[in-house]
Amino acid sequence: MDDPCLATKLPKELPSDPMRWAKAWLDEAFEKQVQRNPHTMVAATVDQNGQPAGRAVLCKRFVIDPGYVVFYTNYKSDKVSHLNNNNRIGLVFHWDAFGRQVRMEGETVRSPAAESDAYFASRDWASQLGAWGSDQSAPIESRAALIAQVGKRAMQLGVGAAKNWKSIAVADRPVMPRPPHWGGIRVWPRRIELWIEGADRIHDRARWERSLVRGDGDSFTVGEWSGTRLQP
Ligand SMILES: Cc1cc2nc3c(=O)[nH]c(=O)nc-3n(C[C@H](O)[C@H](O)[C@H](O)COP(=O)(O)O)c2cc1C
Repeated sequence: MDDPCLATKLPKELPSDPMRWAKAWLDEAFEKQVQRNPHTMVAATVDQNGQPAGRAVLCKRFVIDPGYVVFYTNYKSDKVSHLNNNNRIGLVFHWDAFGRQVRMEGETVRSPAAESDAYFASRDWASQLGAWGSDQSAPIESRAALIAQVGKRAMQLGVGAAKNWKSIAVADRPVMPRPPHWGGIRVWPRRIELWIEGADRIHDRARWERSLVRGDGDSFTVGEWSGTRLQP
Protein backbone atom coordinates (compact mmCIF):
# COMPACT_ATOMS: atom_id res chain seq x y z
CA MET A 1 0.00 0.00 0.00
CA ASP A 2 1.59 3.25 -1.13
CA ASP A 3 -0.64 5.90 0.38
CA PRO A 4 0.16 6.23 4.11
CA CYS A 5 -3.36 7.61 4.65
CA LEU A 6 -4.74 4.14 3.91
CA ALA A 7 -2.85 2.49 6.77
CA THR A 8 -4.84 0.25 9.10
CA LYS A 9 -3.67 2.27 12.11
CA LEU A 10 -3.08 5.94 12.75
CA PRO A 11 0.66 6.60 13.01
CA LYS A 12 2.24 7.02 16.44
CA GLU A 13 2.86 10.66 15.66
CA LEU A 14 -0.53 11.95 14.54
CA PRO A 15 -0.51 13.43 11.03
CA SER A 16 -0.96 17.16 10.61
CA ASP A 17 -3.31 16.82 7.64
CA PRO A 18 -6.46 14.91 8.74
CA MET A 19 -8.48 16.29 5.80
CA ARG A 20 -6.05 14.56 3.44
CA TRP A 21 -6.62 11.30 5.29
CA ALA A 22 -10.39 11.68 5.11
CA LYS A 23 -10.21 12.44 1.38
CA ALA A 24 -8.02 9.38 0.76
CA TRP A 25 -10.61 7.24 2.57
CA LEU A 26 -13.41 8.74 0.47
CA ASP A 27 -11.43 8.16 -2.75
CA GLU A 28 -10.71 4.55 -1.83
CA ALA A 29 -14.41 3.95 -1.09
CA PHE A 30 -15.20 5.23 -4.61
CA GLU A 31 -12.46 3.20 -6.26
CA LYS A 32 -13.39 -0.09 -4.62
CA GLN A 33 -17.13 0.47 -5.27
CA VAL A 34 -18.32 -1.44 -2.23
CA GLN A 35 -21.36 0.80 -1.82
CA ARG A 36 -23.51 2.75 -4.23
CA ASN A 37 -23.01 6.19 -2.73
CA PRO A 38 -19.74 6.22 -0.80
CA HIS A 39 -19.95 10.02 -0.60
CA THR A 40 -23.01 9.79 1.64
CA MET A 41 -22.66 11.69 4.89
CA VAL A 42 -25.17 12.12 7.66
CA ALA A 43 -25.65 15.81 8.39
CA ALA A 44 -26.93 16.81 11.80
CA THR A 45 -28.49 20.22 12.38
CA VAL A 46 -30.32 21.68 15.35
CA ASP A 47 -33.81 23.11 15.03
CA GLN A 48 -35.21 26.25 16.57
CA ASN A 49 -36.19 24.30 19.74
CA GLY A 50 -32.74 22.78 20.20
CA GLN A 51 -33.85 19.43 18.76
CA PRO A 52 -31.05 17.76 16.72
CA ALA A 53 -32.04 16.25 13.37
CA GLY A 54 -29.95 14.06 11.06
CA ARG A 55 -30.34 13.08 7.42
CA ALA A 56 -28.13 11.72 4.63
CA VAL A 57 -26.73 14.08 2.01
CA LEU A 58 -24.07 13.62 -0.68
CA CYS A 59 -20.63 15.18 -0.42
CA LYS A 60 -20.11 16.69 -3.86
CA ARG A 61 -16.85 18.50 -3.19
CA PHE A 62 -14.07 17.79 -0.75
CA VAL A 63 -11.42 20.49 -0.55
CA ILE A 64 -8.44 19.42 1.55
CA ASP A 65 -6.91 22.89 1.75
CA PRO A 66 -8.22 25.25 3.14
CA GLY A 67 -10.52 22.46 4.24
CA TYR A 68 -14.24 22.39 3.51
CA VAL A 69 -16.82 20.06 1.99
CA VAL A 70 -19.95 20.83 -0.03
CA PHE A 71 -23.39 19.32 -0.35
CA TYR A 72 -26.32 20.54 -2.42
CA THR A 73 -29.85 21.01 -1.23
CA ASN A 74 -33.01 23.06 -1.29
CA TYR A 75 -32.53 26.33 0.61
CA LYS A 76 -36.17 26.15 1.76
CA SER A 77 -35.75 22.67 3.27
CA ASP A 78 -35.94 22.00 6.98
CA LYS A 79 -32.17 21.50 7.22
CA VAL A 80 -31.46 24.93 5.75
CA SER A 81 -34.07 26.59 7.91
CA HIS A 82 -32.20 25.08 10.88
CA LEU A 83 -28.91 26.39 9.48
CA ASN A 84 -30.40 29.86 8.94
CA ASN A 85 -31.01 29.95 12.68
CA ASN A 86 -27.83 28.14 13.78
CA ASN A 87 -25.19 27.63 11.09
CA ARG A 88 -23.40 24.86 13.01
CA ILE A 89 -23.48 21.33 11.68
CA GLY A 90 -22.15 17.84 12.41
CA LEU A 91 -21.24 15.42 9.59
CA VAL A 92 -20.56 11.68 9.69
CA PHE A 93 -19.16 9.53 6.90
CA HIS A 94 -19.12 5.79 7.57
CA TRP A 95 -17.52 3.19 5.34
CA ASP A 96 -18.49 -0.07 6.96
CA ALA A 97 -16.58 -2.25 4.48
CA PHE A 98 -13.35 -0.47 5.45
CA GLY A 99 -14.07 -0.08 9.17
CA ARG A 100 -13.65 3.69 8.94
CA GLN A 101 -15.59 6.69 10.19
CA VAL A 102 -14.97 10.41 9.73
CA ARG A 103 -16.75 12.98 11.86
CA MET A 104 -16.67 16.72 11.26
CA GLU A 105 -18.16 19.58 13.21
CA GLY A 106 -18.15 23.15 12.10
CA GLU A 107 -19.95 26.02 10.44
CA THR A 108 -21.85 26.38 7.22
CA VAL A 109 -22.28 29.05 4.58
CA ARG A 110 -23.99 28.94 1.22
CA SER A 111 -21.70 28.24 -1.74
CA PRO A 112 -21.01 31.15 -4.09
CA ALA A 113 -23.87 31.41 -6.62
CA ALA A 114 -21.54 30.84 -9.60
CA GLU A 115 -20.35 27.55 -8.09
CA SER A 116 -23.92 26.35 -7.52
CA ASP A 117 -24.82 27.41 -11.09
CA ALA A 118 -21.93 25.39 -12.50
CA TYR A 119 -22.80 22.31 -10.47
CA PHE A 120 -26.51 22.57 -11.36
CA ALA A 121 -25.62 22.82 -15.06
CA SER A 122 -23.56 19.62 -14.77
CA ARG A 123 -26.47 17.58 -13.38
CA ASP A 124 -28.58 15.41 -15.63
CA TRP A 125 -31.76 16.95 -16.95
CA ALA A 126 -34.20 14.91 -14.86
CA SER A 127 -32.35 15.83 -11.65
CA GLN A 128 -32.46 19.49 -12.66
CA LEU A 129 -36.20 19.19 -13.16
CA GLY A 130 -36.49 17.43 -9.81
CA ALA A 131 -34.91 20.43 -8.10
CA TRP A 132 -37.58 22.67 -9.65
CA GLY A 133 -40.37 20.18 -9.04
CA SER A 134 -40.02 19.51 -5.32
CA ASP A 135 -40.54 21.95 -2.46
CA GLN A 136 -38.31 19.87 -0.24
CA SER A 137 -39.62 19.20 3.28
CA ALA A 138 -43.04 20.80 2.58
CA PRO A 139 -46.08 18.52 3.01
CA ILE A 140 -48.00 17.26 -0.04
CA GLU A 141 -51.23 15.27 -0.06
CA SER A 142 -50.19 12.38 -2.32
CA ARG A 143 -47.49 11.03 -4.65
CA ALA A 144 -49.85 11.69 -7.56
CA ALA A 145 -50.03 15.34 -6.53
CA LEU A 146 -46.23 15.48 -6.41
CA ILE A 147 -45.92 14.02 -9.93
CA ALA A 148 -48.55 16.48 -11.16
CA GLN A 149 -46.62 19.35 -9.55
CA VAL A 150 -43.39 18.29 -11.29
CA GLY A 151 -45.28 18.09 -14.61
CA LYS A 152 -46.80 21.53 -14.12
CA ARG A 153 -43.46 23.08 -13.30
CA ALA A 154 -41.90 21.32 -16.31
CA MET A 155 -44.50 23.01 -18.49
CA GLN A 156 -43.76 26.37 -16.91
CA LEU A 157 -40.09 25.80 -17.76
CA GLY A 158 -40.97 25.23 -21.41
CA VAL A 159 -41.38 21.46 -21.61
CA GLY A 160 -44.30 20.76 -23.96
CA ALA A 161 -45.63 17.33 -23.06
CA ALA A 162 -45.74 17.76 -19.33
CA LYS A 163 -47.65 14.54 -18.72
CA ASN A 164 -44.77 12.55 -20.09
CA TRP A 165 -41.86 14.66 -18.89
CA LYS A 166 -39.66 11.62 -18.19
CA SER A 167 -39.56 10.65 -21.86
CA ILE A 168 -38.99 14.07 -23.41
CA ALA A 169 -36.53 13.80 -26.33
CA VAL A 170 -33.12 15.29 -25.59
CA ALA A 171 -33.58 17.87 -28.35
CA ASP A 172 -36.82 19.08 -26.72
CA ARG A 173 -35.35 19.60 -23.27
CA PRO A 174 -35.09 23.29 -22.51
CA VAL A 175 -31.96 24.55 -20.79
CA MET A 176 -32.88 24.98 -17.15
CA PRO A 177 -31.48 27.69 -14.93
CA ARG A 178 -30.68 26.84 -11.32
CA PRO A 179 -33.66 27.43 -9.05
CA PRO A 180 -32.79 30.38 -6.78
CA HIS A 181 -33.79 28.29 -3.76
CA TRP A 182 -31.39 25.44 -4.55
CA GLY A 183 -27.61 25.35 -4.20
CA GLY A 184 -24.54 24.36 -2.27
CA ILE A 185 -23.82 24.43 1.42
CA ARG A 186 -20.15 24.67 2.34
CA VAL A 187 -19.22 23.01 5.61
CA TRP A 188 -16.08 24.37 7.26
CA PRO A 189 -14.99 21.98 9.99
CA ARG A 190 -13.25 23.26 13.11
CA ARG A 191 -13.04 19.68 14.37
CA ILE A 192 -12.46 16.40 12.54
CA GLU A 193 -12.21 12.90 13.92
CA LEU A 194 -10.77 9.83 12.20
CA TRP A 195 -11.80 6.41 13.47
CA ILE A 196 -10.40 3.07 12.37
CA GLU A 197 -12.00 -0.14 13.53
CA GLY A 198 -9.72 -2.30 15.67
CA ALA A 199 -9.90 -5.84 17.00
CA ASP A 200 -11.81 -6.41 20.25
CA ARG A 201 -13.37 -2.93 20.07
CA ILE A 202 -9.95 -1.36 20.67
CA HIS A 203 -10.44 1.10 17.86
CA ASP A 204 -7.98 3.74 16.71
CA ARG A 205 -9.35 7.20 17.19
CA ALA A 206 -8.07 10.77 17.09
CA ARG A 207 -9.58 14.22 16.93
CA TRP A 208 -8.07 17.34 15.38
CA GLU A 209 -9.10 20.91 16.05
CA ARG A 210 -8.23 24.21 14.43
CA SER A 211 -9.26 27.80 14.82
CA LEU A 212 -12.01 28.83 12.42
CA VAL A 213 -12.93 32.49 12.25
CA ARG A 214 -15.55 33.86 9.93
CA GLY A 215 -14.42 37.01 8.18
CA ASP A 216 -16.44 39.37 6.05
CA GLY A 217 -19.16 37.60 4.16
CA ASP A 218 -18.75 33.89 3.70
CA SER A 219 -14.98 33.56 4.04
CA PHE A 220 -13.14 31.88 6.90
CA THR A 221 -9.64 32.18 8.28
CA VAL A 222 -8.37 28.82 9.48
CA GLY A 223 -5.48 27.77 11.73
CA GLU A 224 -3.33 24.63 11.71
CA TRP A 225 -4.84 21.30 12.72
CA SER A 226 -3.81 19.98 16.11
CA GLY A 227 -4.50 16.32 16.86
CA THR A 228 -5.26 14.41 20.06
CA ARG A 229 -5.57 10.65 20.35
CA LEU A 230 -8.79 9.55 22.06
CA GLN A 231 -9.84 6.35 23.77
CA PRO A 232 -12.32 4.45 21.68
C1 LIG B 1 -28.13 8.33 0.21
C2 LIG B 1 -28.93 9.60 0.30
C3 LIG B 1 -28.39 10.76 -0.22
C4 LIG B 1 -29.10 11.96 -0.15
N1 LIG B 1 -28.52 13.10 -0.63
C5 LIG B 1 -29.16 14.28 -0.48
C6 LIG B 1 -28.51 15.49 -0.87
O1 LIG B 1 -27.36 15.52 -1.35
N2 LIG B 1 -29.19 16.65 -0.70
C7 LIG B 1 -30.45 16.68 -0.15
O2 LIG B 1 -31.00 17.77 -0.03
N3 LIG B 1 -31.07 15.56 0.24
C8 LIG B 1 -30.45 14.35 0.11
N4 LIG B 1 -31.05 13.19 0.53
C9 LIG B 1 -32.38 13.30 1.16
C10 LIG B 1 -32.21 13.74 2.61
O3 LIG B 1 -31.75 12.65 3.40
C11 LIG B 1 -33.50 14.33 3.22
O4 LIG B 1 -34.56 13.41 3.11
C12 LIG B 1 -33.91 15.63 2.55
O5 LIG B 1 -32.79 16.44 2.23
C13 LIG B 1 -34.86 16.45 3.44
O6 LIG B 1 -34.23 16.71 4.66
P1 LIG B 1 -34.71 17.92 5.62
O7 LIG B 1 -36.23 17.90 5.61
O8 LIG B 1 -34.15 17.58 6.96
O9 LIG B 1 -34.18 19.19 5.05
C14 LIG B 1 -30.38 11.98 0.47
C15 LIG B 1 -30.90 10.81 0.99
C16 LIG B 1 -30.19 9.64 0.91
C17 LIG B 1 -30.78 8.39 1.51
